[in-house]
Amino acid sequence: MSRVVELSLRAIVDSRGSPTVEAEVADGEGHRGRAGAPGGASTGAHEVPAWPKGGVPVALEQFQKELRPVLLGRELEDARGWDAALHAVDGTEEFSRIGGGVATALSLAAAIARAEALGVPLWKSWLRPGLDGSGRPMIVGNCLNGGRHAIGGPEFQEFHAISSSPKTADAVRGAIAVHRAVGEALHAKFPELALGRGDEGGWVAPVGSLEGLEILARACEEVRDATHLAVHPGLDLAASEFFNDGRYRYRDHSLDAEGQHAFLVRLVERFGLRYVEDPFDEEAFDSFAQFTHAVGDRTLVVGDDIYTTSVARLERGIAERASNSVLIKVNQVGTLTDTFATVDRARAAGWSTVASHRSGDLPEGWLAHFAVGAGSRGLKCGILGGERVAKLNELLRVAAPA
Ligand code: PGA
Ligand code: ZN
Repeated sequence: MSRVVELSLRAIVDSRGSPTVEAEVADGEGHRGRAGAPGGASTGAHEVPAWPKGGVPVALEQFQKELRPVLLGRELEDARGWDAALHAVDGTEEFSRIGGGVATALSLAAAIARAEALGVPLWKSWLRPGLDGSGRPMIVGNCLNGGRHAIGGPEFQEFHAISSSPKTADAVRGAIAVHRAVGEALHAKFPELALGRGDEGGWVAPVGSLEGLEILARACEEVRDATHLAVHPGLDLAASEFFNDGRYRYRDHSLDAEGQHAFLVRLVERFGLRYVEDPFDEEAFDSFAQFTHAVGDRTLVVGDDIYTTSVARLERGIAERASNSVLIKVNQVGTLTDTFATVDRARAAGWSTVASHRSGDLPEGWLAHFAVGAGSRGLKCGILGGERVAKLNELLRVAAPA
């Protein structure tokens, strides 16, 4: 049993250059953990707020005054007690006083130090009951960015390669091949344009949502034909971001909920989508349920903004059969204890989970351990960019230890 003797929180920046924090935790025997809080751009309305009023500087002050004295000296092994102390100091329902970003960094850093103290790999310390850690997530890798992650791009926020293989190296190889093929297709289509990459490392180009999906689906097909790797198209629409006054608003037209449903069912059929995240507004449980009823046997219907990793929101989703999968982001709820409660509830309902990065992220690899420990169906971590590759490489390390 070791106690926390060192504890610090410092200001750093994420992959978008936005301010965030990282925590460092150590016990008296030299076991250390360090982790930062990622940050979203298309945040769900029900996520915990990342920072107190006044932002990171106020968060750091509060940490010194209120959190540090309470956390120092605590037993490192007591994960629940550590996370409960974060809630107790905060005193609100949703970390609005200390900030969800602070809670996330402290919860994660302690977990990493704890695994060190226990002498086990991180994924093993996070293993859910009944699992042995042999499951490998498919890669949900962003190839084309839109929405809030790419100015001038499509309305749909993310166009993914869904790459699965019993061999992690093949899953990674497949995702990268699709990313490359999408880039080649875009360069061929826009020979005069300088193309770039968006917040999650996918390409940015002046294409519409349907056009983007056509390019992605063709790229997947080419890679399948050339390599026989299992790569298929998937989407995160982040539809709340283009839902206004009861309609889903595209560049030159808009759709009501029925129209959006019919449009998306056609896309699933025509392109063989294997993954559809946030197809409707974050409050539209009924639209989600209707869509899952129609295509849930063929594709993962994944809820992100609708659940925001909250077990209470998920409970409603399960009761209404709103989807068959839930996206998991630690910083949407602020602690690993809360996050695993949501994972365990999803598993009990027979739903899958997808462990996810944020659009503003850090070059850290813990998410790969999380996906393996939680038995997640998918690891959604992008493909290119240092903060994205960090997670893919960590998954490769977990799959093939030295
Ligand atoms: P965010 O986007 O990190 O900007 O919220 C990711 C997502 O919607 O899945
Ligand atoms: Zn999403």
